[in-house]
Amino acid sequence: MKILTVEDIRSLINRVGLTCFFQHVMDAMKLDFSHWSEFNLSSRHAIHYSHGVIELMPCSDKSLYSFKYVNGHPGNPAKGQLSVVALGLLSEVSSGYPLMISEMTLLTALRTAVVGVLAAKYLARRDARKLAIIGTGAQAEFQIMCFASFFPLEEIRFYDCDNLAMRKFEKNLTAESFKLIACQNINEAVSSADIIVTATAAKKKQCLFDLEDVAPGTHIHAMGGDCPGKTEFDVNLLEQSKIVVEYVPQSLIEGESQQCPSDSIYAELWELVSKKKPGRLNAQEITVFDSVGFALEDFSILRVVYALAEDYQLGADLALIPVLDDPKNLYGLIR
Ligand SMILES: NC(=O)c1ccc[n+]([C@@H]2O[C@H](COP(=O)([O-])OP(=O)(O)OC[C@H]3O[C@@H](n4cnc5c(N)ncnc54)[C@H](O)[C@@H]3O)[C@@H](O)[C@H]2O)c1
Repeated sequence: MKILTVEDIRSLINRVGLTCFFQHVMDAMKLDFSHWSEFNLSSRHAIHYSHGVIELMPCSDKSLYSFKYVNGHPGNPAKGQLSVVALGLLSEVSSGYPLMISEMTLLTALRTAVVGVLAAKYLARRDARKLAIIGTGAQAEFQIMCFASFFPLEEIRFYDCDNLAMRKFEKNLTAESFKLIACQNINEAVSSADIIVTATAAKKKQCLFDLEDVAPGTHIHAMGGDCPGKTEFDVNLLEQSKIVVEYVPQSLIEGESQQCPSDSIYAELWELVSKKKPGRLNAQEITVFDSVGFALEDFSILRVVYALAEDYQLGADLALIPVLDDPKNLYGLIR
């Protein structure tokens, strides 16, 4: 069984190239969303604590099964730890044998960026050039680099209530071709944006901005609110927007949509990908991709990474599963 460490994923992305890696994951995710009905899908299993959440996220088709262990602890950075860390496992359905265990902190940031862009391909205006991001923590640069790989972005406005996070973000992206504009407040960032990414971490109900603060035709990738009681918008903005989610049963518990009746959700993302429903209809609509993170996205990136790791011969083969001449003689291993 293959073990992929943080260093293996770093090395893989350096060798494949970040844009090319995003394209691999985009292709796989689009294909998987278009085969939605062939998957065994379920909401994630979450245990909530007053300071955070720990979740298990399973998904399977006829040949592969995956699950991710992931947390969400917004207070961690103050203690020098990440808010979100994850591990993933991929196994073959035919035998139930695990094929790979991978680090998934980087993979979560990468797949969250890809699914945000996948939704934006259907929901953002084609002429979108200006992006704003609120919350410049661990996920932020992944979002920007992925959006910039698929949209010809010219200007990125950014705001975080933590100045150090803003400086880190600017330093990481300063060599890129788009213009970076550090903003003094949220309104300055979002008022002229075509696409807004909200990636804040706070275990409470926030209202980052309201409908009158954004221009007609804006698309919002709302990814920070992903737990009961952890939201980024008031219901007013949601009521006036076209809302697309990943998986309704999960989003009604965890997403911005927890504040709305279920009939205010326009579609699940797979319906746009499969062309069952159109995405954006005109240049005036406000669209919201209410992303909480869904297990199918982890499945897609894990299968891509497994295939690439085989191609590039990355990862260690560790003996975590017994290999026996007689599969009934497990006891023989310790006798
Ligand atoms: N939808 C998904 O699939 C998905 C995936 C990964 C992470 N997330 C969520 O995205 C959020 C960001 O994750 P992260 O790993 O970047 O966290 P992080 O803690 O590294 O960064 C979050 C940033 O938000 C800032 N922030 C909090 N409240 C703010 C406010 N009101 N205005 C401006 N900035 C504010 C913080 O200062 C911090 O810099 C978390 O809530 C996480 O749970 C969602």
